[in-house]
Amino acid sequence: RIAYVNGRYLDMRDASVNIEDRGYQFADGVYEVCEVRGGKLIDMPRHLARLQRSLGELRIKEPMPLAALSVVMHEVVRRNRVSHGIVYLQVTRGVARRDHGFPAAPVKPAVVVTARSLDPAKGQANAAHGIKVITLPENRWPRVDIKSTALLPNVLAKQVAREAGAYEAWYVDRDGYVTEGSSSNAWIVTKEGRVVTRSADAGILAGVTRAVLMDAFEALQVRFEERPFTPAEAAGAAEAFVTASSQIVMPVVAIDGQPIGDGKPGALAKRLREQFHRFAV
Ligand code: PDD
Repeated sequence: RIAYVNGRYLDMRDASVNIEDRGYQFADGVYEVCEVRGGKLIDMPRHLARLQRSLGELRIKEPMPLAALSVVMHEVVRRNRVSHGIVYLQVTRGVARRDHGFPAAPVKPAVVVTARSLDPAKGQANAAHGIKVITLPENRWPRVDIKSTALLPNVLAKQVAREAGAYEAWYVDRDGYVTEGSSSNAWIVTKEGRVVTRSADAGILAGVTRAVLMDAFEALQVRFEERPFTPAEAAGAAEAFVTASSQIVMPVVAIDGQPIGDGKPGALAKRLREQFHRFAV
């Protein structure tokens, strides 16, 4: 496998970063994960726009023009012959002697790009069975709108989910409402057939998959409400699902051990999963 590291394409075994990279010491960086499908990178303009925003919020300089970053990402996908999978891009503030404040002398942001194949059959099998979620108290910092590599709460949440036999953990805020998953956005479908997800300006990452889906609702004649929902509402909902670039639309069939709907993947979630790539670019 080939990785891009700071201007070079290297065999993964030879690819490394400096131990004083601020990403390593402080998680002082941002990332993106894009879907690769048929060798194509999906929804790149939205991913690059979000990257630009994340960098701006952390005051990290753009390491190169976004168009050049896009070329590098395509090249890593090509060199790894990824047809179906994901490409990972990470930009950190760079290498400097360890000190919490920004380096006084400007440093070059560090860029890493990797890609890997995913077995499409595995995703389809997950989608056919549906996944289970558990809920956990929200314990992340308030700036989850930034796609930062500081993911320790998310790592711990995912592990708690796995140990509970679930696939994803949904965070619940102090008011008792679901925010999002540890690595996905959370959705329900009400018994009246309305799709519900939380507003992007209230404690969640503005998912690219989420945005594409929302834009598709009119054409698909899906009724939609942007508002928070509780785990109890989810348990009593007709359907639930999660979205992420690595999973597209993934049906959820249980929450905290309680079946959702008939305990099988919902019809609307299945339809949205099938139709998604008509609306992605
Ligand atoms: N995660 N919320 C969180 C906390 C996420 O980490 C992600 C994506 C999403 C969905 O965003 P998008 O649709 O743009 O992928 C929501 C990626 C896939 C990851 O960390 O691997």
